[in-house]
Formats: sequence, C-alpha cells, structure tokens
Amino acid sequence: MLVITTNTELNTFLKTIKKDNNLGLVPTMGALHSGHLSLVKKAIKENDHVIVSIFVNPTQFNNKEDLEKYPQTLDTDIKLLSMASDQIVVYVPSVSEVYKKEVTPKKYNFQGLDLVMEGEFRDDHFNGVGTIVEMLLNLIKPNNAYFGEKDFQQLQIIKKLTEIENIPVNIIGCPIVRESHGLAMSSRNERLPSQIRQEASIIYNTLKAAKEKFGTKSAKVITDWVTKVINDNPNFKIEYIEISDAQTLKPIKRKQKGKKYRAFIAVYTANVRLIDNIALN
Ligand code: PAJ
Repeated sequence: MLVITTNTELNTFLKTIKKDNNLGLVPTMGALHSGHLSLVKKAIKENDHVIVSIFVNPTQFNNKEDLEKYPQTLDTDIKLLSMASDQIVVYVPSVSEVYKKEVTPKKYNFQGLDLVMEGEFRDDHFNGVGTIVEMLLNLIKPNNAYFGEKDFQQLQIIKKLTEIENIPVNIIGCPIVRESHGLAMSSRNERLPSQIRQEASIIYNTLKAAKEKFGTKSAKVITDWVTKVINDNPNFKIEYIEISDAQTLKPIKRKQKGKKYRAFIAVYTANVRLIDNIALN
C-alpha cells in the first residue's frame, strides 16, 4: 500500500490516474474504527482509486489539551486500511506540509450552520474543518468525498463549503456505524470504562424513543423528556438536545410538511463528550 507524506509525492501519484477514472477521498484524523472503515469501503466500491487522508488538524481544536490527547495510531491505521484494500493510497502529511505559513484557519460564512450545536461553544472549530477540507479537495481534486452522518452538522457545512467555494466534487454522506448495543462508534469510546460504555446505549435508545414520540408530541415536550431521562442517570449529563431542520440546522419552531427533521445530542460521561443524532421523519 502506498503511504505518501509530501505534496510532491501526492502530485506524482495523481498524475498516474487516467482521465476517465474516478477518484474518491476519505478525510480522517486517524485512530480508525469501523465507522471510518465503512466510508472507506463505500469509496472503494464507487471509485477506481481511493485516497484516505490521516491528519490531526490543529486548527479545528479549540482546546490544546484535546489536541495533545488525540489518539495517534498510524501503524494500526495502515494495517486496517491494507486489510480493506491494498490499492488504497494513504496521505499522511505533517503540519508544516499542510500549513506552509501560519497554522490558522480561514474565516468562512457558513450562513449560520456553524453557529449552533457543535459550533456554539467551539470557536473557529468549523472554520478549521473548512480550511483543511478545502485544502484537501483543492489538492487532490477527487470526484467523490465521503463524510459520516455521525458528524451530521460537519457534513452539512462541508456541502455548504463546496457550494460557496465552487468546488466541483460530490459530497457523499454515509450512515452512522454503531457498536452492537447502539452507541455510535467514536475514537473517544476507547476512553470509557467498560460499564459506562455499555450504559452509554442510553443515548441511542433515548433518541429512538424521541423518534417514536415525534409523530404526536411537540419538540419542547420531547427535548424536556430526553433531558430528564439522560440526567436521571447519575453517570450522564446532557450538554444539548436539539430538534432541528436537517437542511438549515435551525431549531424547529412548528413542524412543516415536506421538511426533514433530526434530533442532535451531546452528552458528557466519565469526562468524555459523546455526540449522536437521528433522523426523525
Ligand atoms: P474523524 O473524526 O477522524 O472522522 C472522519 C470521518 O469519519 C468523518 O466524516 C466522520 O463523520 C466519520 N465517522 C466517524 N465515526 C463514524 C461512525 N460511527 N459512523 C460513520 N461515520 C463516522 O471528522 C473528522 O475526522 C475531521 O473533522 C475531518 C473531516 C477529517 C477534518 O479534519
């Protein structure tokens, strides 16, 4: 499997791709698990060539400690990828290769998509995500780029990014992969004590129950109920639960025909912050 660390090597590889061949890109920050691998497998099915980038992007971390603690498991990642296909090209640049001058994010106008939920308390987080994804798309010029619905807000922001920056690429959303008891897969799950990890199924179970209620109950009744169920368990503390328009991410006011709604949740447990979401209709 080809592992590339410089843009020069990357350009040399890109020149070998035939004009009518499709190229797929899966951007990641490594510490790969089955959630990431589901994107990679879909990309392999749908493209002639697949590049997986592994880069812990400093400009999307607003907390230095969080960045320093981010798991780095490159050898295992490469093994996992080569098991999926030895045709994958892995792009693992250094910070100086990506950020030639200053390690700062570009400022975008994501038309409000970045001001709610994950963006509300994390200054510049989505500017950092936008900066690295725009760089990767411009450098690699894939036909298709794959992102998980686990980070549904990020997925919507990346679609907006390609629209406002006029980047010709298909952004493909992929379903959330879950552990057997329902917890959405995340590198952070490894930090949970095993009993808490089992109990964390409360998050998805509560979202599924919220979906059941969505037909007959108001958003306020549902979000109050979810907050109570989660906070009644002493091991879990809710940060937010929002029911929002899946397109604009604006909190729902009144249900409107033809619109898609989703519930979004962030929960703290054992010093770990977990996020999840579910389609309601
Ligand atoms: P990272 O957290 O490594 O995730 C890489 C991709 O895997 C994202 O598109 C994410 O939504 C997807 N993913 C993670 N867990 C998943 C799961 N359980 N099911 C389905 N997909 C899942 O997201 C990032 O990196 C970064 O912000 C990045 C886009 C790479 C920019 O730095």
